[in-house]
Amino acid sequence: MVKLPSEIVARLRALYDGKRVCVTGGAGFIGGHLVDALLALGAQVSVIDDLSTGDLDALAPHLEVSPDQLSFVNGSILDDAALRDALKGVSLVFHLAAVGSVPRSMENPARSWDVNATGTMRVLEEARRAKAKRVVFAASSSAYGDTPTLPKVETMPTRPMSPYAASKVAAEALMASWCRAFGLDTVSLRYFNVFGQRQKADGPYAAVIPVFARRLLAGERPVIFGDGQQSRDFTFVANAVLATLLAGAHDGALAGEVINVGAGTRTTLIELAHELAEACLSDAGQSIAREPEHRAARPGDVMHSLADISKAQQTLGYRPVIGLKQGLAETIAWHREALKTSR
Ligand SMILES: NC(=O)c1ccc[n+]([C@@H]2O[C@H](COP(=O)([O-])OP(=O)(O)OC[C@H]3O[C@@H](n4cnc5c(N)ncnc54)[C@H](O)[C@@H]3O)[C@@H](O)[C@H]2O)c1
Repeated sequence: MVKLPSEIVARLRALYDGKRVCVTGGAGFIGGHLVDALLALGAQVSVIDDLSTGDLDALAPHLEVSPDQLSFVNGSILDDAALRDALKGVSLVFHLAAVGSVPRSMENPARSWDVNATGTMRVLEEARRAKAKRVVFAASSSAYGDTPTLPKVETMPTRPMSPYAASKVAAEALMASWCRAFGLDTVSLRYFNVFGQRQKADGPYAAVIPVFARRLLAGERPVIFGDGQQSRDFTFVANAVLATLLAGAHDGALAGEVINVGAGTRTTLIELAHELAEACLSDAGQSIAREPEHRAARPGDVMHSLADISKAQQTLGYRPVIGLKQGLAETIAWHREALKTSR
């Protein structure tokens, strides 16, 4: 399980022990870590995932060791029968299934819309039918678009710049309206650039941290598009999982609210490349290619992103528990191991 302070674990265990929950997209990167944590806290977990980008690697050991605590539906949230099966008897739904990535949505906007918007509506309808109490949704910081104001506060207008962002903003509206119209408690957590162990490094849609990590570990220079002064709020997966667990366990209504989930600090890509190079060194003491290679800036890239996390702090009692350095060190250590076993 992602490492969380013991007093938080004790508090969460009291809230999750024996609770029946569903995680859509539970075979994915963040979903897999969330499932690990829920199982460790004693919850009864049902996962639905079509394995389009997720895989069973993280879930397989649990399915073998704790078959009574975890069930897996290999299916799509667009398939009513599969969804009904996964949501049967649950009181809480963590809805993470999605077609992620902005570039992927530019290639196939209809697919992003179907899964991320229509799929969310299906999940809400099925949650209502199952008489679940709450749906916690994995929304995205891409909702803010390219507005220059920093930090991003939930009260700012949304400005989706891609079909992916639009589908996530539409899903937030569905979440809020299902609360107002049907009394189903919902909350949308806008995750900011989540990274950590098990995040995919291969393929054209991989995120920057796993891509940099693999290049550095292969002795190659990380590639930065532009001058590297673009900045992001990189959020270690343990922090994102913590906020998600706090939202699921929150006492009282969350009433369709949107809440930022980030680290609350921003790091430029140049700084990130150096931090990662440091993490590679301290992990193994070997010399690595440190200086990033610069290529032409990509049009459409958002320049800066930073979460204001006061609402998450005030509403959920969330504060990041693992800093960037430690998160990067754990991520590098995982990639190093993964490379060894794949050889
Ligand atoms: N990783 C980030 O930085 C980040 C940032 C903002 C928001 N999010 C959101 O968080 C969630 C999890 O992201 P992730 O990074 O773990 O991505 P991921 O691709 O690893 O996880 C998504 C999971 O959903 C599954 N899935 C896709 N379509 C499905 C369908 N039709 N039915 C059932 N399952 C389906 C995939 O197989 C995968 O396991 C997503 O909703 C994503 O949009 C992620």
